[in-house]
Amino acid sequence: MTFSLDQFRLDNKVALVTGAGGRGNSIGRAYALGLAAAGASVVVADLNQPGAAAVADEIRAAGGNAVSVVVDIADPASVRAMAATAATAFGGVDILVNNAGLMAELKSEQAVDVSLEEWNRIMNVNVTGALNCVQAVVPMMRQRGGGKIINQTSGGAFPAISIYGISKLALVGLTTTLARQLGRENINVNAIAPGNTTSDAGKQLTPDDSPFIQFLQANVAMRVRGAPDELVGALLLLCSTAGDWITGQVIHVDGGWVLRP
Ligand SMILES: NC(=O)c1ccc[n+]([C@@H]2O[C@H](COP(=O)([O-])OP(=O)(O)OC[C@H]3O[C@@H](n4cnc5c(N)ncnc54)[C@H](O)[C@@H]3O)[C@@H](O)[C@H]2O)c1
Repeated sequence: MTFSLDQFRLDNKVALVTGAGGRGNSIGRAYALGLAAAGASVVVADLNQPGAAAVADEIRAAGGNAVSVVVDIADPASVRAMAATAATAFGGVDILVNNAGLMAELKSEQAVDVSLEEWNRIMNVNVTGALNCVQAVVPMMRQRGGGKIINQTSGGAFPAISIYGISKLALVGLTTTLARQLGRENINVNAIAPGNTTSDAGKQLTPDDSPFIQFLQANVAMRVRGAPDELVGALLLLCSTAGDWITGQVIHVDGGWVLRP
């Protein structure tokens, strides 16, 4: 088959993006708008109801299809209800973007000192939350003959130097394991590892004068910071038939922060 740019189109596809209703400028919002621009109907899912509704409104105002749904990804019943909303609104799900996560709201505690309660809170959202979404959505992908799963990891997992980083590294393990197990069912499972991204949450976590930004400035090959929109191209590759032969991979979109050993 000759390559066509149309392979990047997502017309007649349904995409579910978690964490897409963040306040203001968020990566999930950029993902949802990008998927809609490529033609997908989008399920905008978040703990934050007004934020999710606002992003769905933005998609519809631009002529796209979207519904919003409130979900706590750490709660399997809530995740099943989210999947049911997607089925009712659009008949199922072809693309799952596991983007929701705890990041800026986390304290940088040492692993040796962290309470089990805080450890479990982080893992329940960042790792188990993604698994809950996979378990709720994969049956619908099977019915539709395949699908695409994208897990949002982070440059902060390479290497993991925080509990957040540990949770994001666990998502890499989930990605490779699911890729092996679901590949023959035409379900691609990949991860995106953004670098320091100028979402509102990212800017709050690492202001310009933070030691982490200084560390990046000394090490990153290109620009240290990227905008949420600069992650969308990689997402569309992984979500579309243009990426049909890519699975089990982590795509680093970070200006050359994490380089191959
Ligand atoms: N900003 C960065 O520099 C950066 C870099 C690498 C990776 N990431 C990852 O990208 C993703 C988005 O980050 P962002 O910068 O847009 O931050 P953000 O805080 O704006 O986005 C996270 C979203 O997840 C939602 N969420 C949190 N817990 C939830 C739960 N239990 N159920 C449902 N939704 C929940 C929040 O309401 C929020 O809308 C996160 O997974 C983050 O770890 C961000």
